[in-house]
Amino acid sequence: MLKSRLCDLVGIKYPIIQAGMGPFSNNNLCVAASNAGVLGLLSTSGLFSKDNQPWIYKAFVESGEADPDDTMAVALEKVLKRTYRLTREKGGIFGINVMVSAELVQYSNIMIDTAIKVREDNPDIKNHFKVIFTSAGDPVPWRDKIKSAGFTWMHVVPSVKGAQRCKKAGVDVIVASGHEGGFHTSWEPVHSMILLPATVEAVSDDKTLVVGAGGFCDGKTLAAALVLGADGVQMGTRFLATQESDFHQLWKEGVVAAEDRGTLVARGFVGPARWLKTPRSVEHARNTLEKSPGVFLGIPDDYTTIDMSLIDYENESIKAVYEGNKEMALMAAGEAAQRINDLPMVNDMVLGIVKDAENILRGIQRKNLL
Ligand SMILES: Cc1cc2nc3c(=O)[nH]c(=O)nc-3n(C[C@H](O)[C@H](O)[C@H](O)COP(=O)(O)O)c2cc1C
Repeated sequence: MLKSRLCDLVGIKYPIIQAGMGPFSNNNLCVAASNAGVLGLLSTSGLFSKDNQPWIYKAFVESGEADPDDTMAVALEKVLKRTYRLTREKGGIFGINVMVSAELVQYSNIMIDTAIKVREDNPDIKNHFKVIFTSAGDPVPWRDKIKSAGFTWMHVVPSVKGAQRCKKAGVDVIVASGHEGGFHTSWEPVHSMILLPATVEAVSDDKTLVVGAGGFCDGKTLAAALVLGADGVQMGTRFLATQESDFHQLWKEGVVAAEDRGTLVARGFVGPARWLKTPRSVEHARNTLEKSPGVFLGIPDDYTTIDMSLIDYENESIKAVYEGNKEMALMAAGEAAQRINDLPMVNDMVLGIVKDAENILRGIQRKNLL
């Protein structure tokens, strides 16, 4: 059976991570992924969308069986306990994705403190809720809090420099995220084919695992990541387009419908983002070029002078998804969308991916390449 150090480290069957895809709910997707033997991740950033994107918040709390009037901490506590309740029988393993960028520190602390409390309240949860996955910021300041609470710590980076920073912080699993990936992409992009082996060469050792993200969506790409030296892959777009995923049907079908060159990069809330290519996103890319060209040049927006029409456009377009308005919708996804042609059940999909990867890796020996 296909196994890697990632499986041993967190106790999952297969070396695959279902990406946390915030601020959108992954509450049901995470349950399905954990029960399928991969690491399921809950996104948490929807919990602080109550004021500026209430449609995201509403979907988040409803799918997590929390109450719209709950505080952020209480809502997260309910979501975590629900995930535990729905995964414990099958031995599912899960974690949370927490954004730790400087402007979100207050929220990040609420999320991580709640995670610690939930595990202290019920020690058996520790056997299932094992991972804190941080993103979008410097890992170093979070070391003591996360490590002393006994979590396995994963952090996502877009560069070798970022990976070295993770190593300094004592991150257990460094996730190297290539430019192919869905939604937020980095300011200075590098693709997985370069970033993943470069990260493995720079930081992988007995204590530090490396996982690839961005473009991984099937057995071929999983096998390729393992051959490049990774301990596993994180998949976002592939899990988005599944039966159990919490994303709107419009979004899932958008991924399936995407063809050759089916995505583009334009502004997305905090910087460059990869969207499904539609007339609406093409218009957004044009507006980005005109009003926020820094997105394409690696220069962050100045929020005191930015043209607010771009932000309004993004908010309206995400709201449109929740209203099922195809013409107005902006939907994020990775380049992998062009290789995704179905909406499977998560368990069937995971088994298929693993079987294909096993066959490919076995087959390599029979191909007389050497
Ligand atoms: C809709 C969407 C939302 C995402 N939101 C987040 C997020 O909040 N935090 C994060 O670390 N990554 C986020 N990602 C990136 C994923 O975690 C993952 O790294 C990426 O999807 C991998 O590339 P792939 O889409 O080719 O599988 C998001 C991806 C998508 C498609």
